[in-house]
Amino acid sequence: MKEKARLIVMISGSGSNLQALIEAVQENVLDAQIVLVVSNRLAAYGLQRADQAGIDTLYFPLKPYRAAGQSREQYDADLAQKLQEYHPDLIVLAGWMHVLSPAFLNHFKRRVINLHPALPGQFDGVGAIRCAYEAYQAGEIEQTGVMVHYAVPGVDAGPVLVQETMPFLEGESLKDFEDRVHAAEHRLIVQAAQRTLDARNINSQVREEK
Ligand code: GRF
Repeated sequence: MKEKARLIVMISGSGSNLQALIEAVQENVLDAQIVLVVSNRLAAYGLQRADQAGIDTLYFPLKPYRAAGQSREQYDADLAQKLQEYHPDLIVLAGWMHVLSPAFLNHFKRRVINLHPALPGQFDGVGAIRCAYEAYQAGEIEQTGVMVHYAVPGVDAGPVLVQETMPFLEGESLKDFEDRVHAAEHRLIVQAAQRTLDARNINSQVREEK
């Protein structure tokens, strides 16, 4: 029996996108297993979601590195080394709030994908949902969207795997808009994870056939 693809999910917050992945795995919508959930924040509710689902967790804060005068690269390299022990086929950044450097990404080429609630090149970084909403209110944009892209050095850049445009609704509150965006994220993150694994499987099949 072939082992299911091994996923690591990295979070910093409530973990609603992690929850979408957990449920997709449980319902066999996503043909994989989540072997580890990583958070840089101990208070991240996503860690409790992982515990409730019986998934291993790793709390890996940056603060001790800063306090010891160590670099982000050292943090990233140590984090990569820990994650390599889990032999991940795919690492999903689901609200992970640190920008990962090559010291991490170089260990997992084309195996790290990042969810971002904006369209490519729009509203990079934190607060993208509110920024998009305010830009619409100011008449600067007509639509926004959600995307999942391969993580490369640099904030929310990298080849796009999936994206979905989202219209604005006249008179919609920010809260209602945010809820609509998160619902789109929960669909897209599962689609993107499966698509990435399928692409890798195809690659591995081609390799086997050669
Ligand atoms: C999501 O909106 C994600 O796109 C952004 O941070 C939020 C994480 O939400 N980067 P959650 O922790 O998955 O609920």
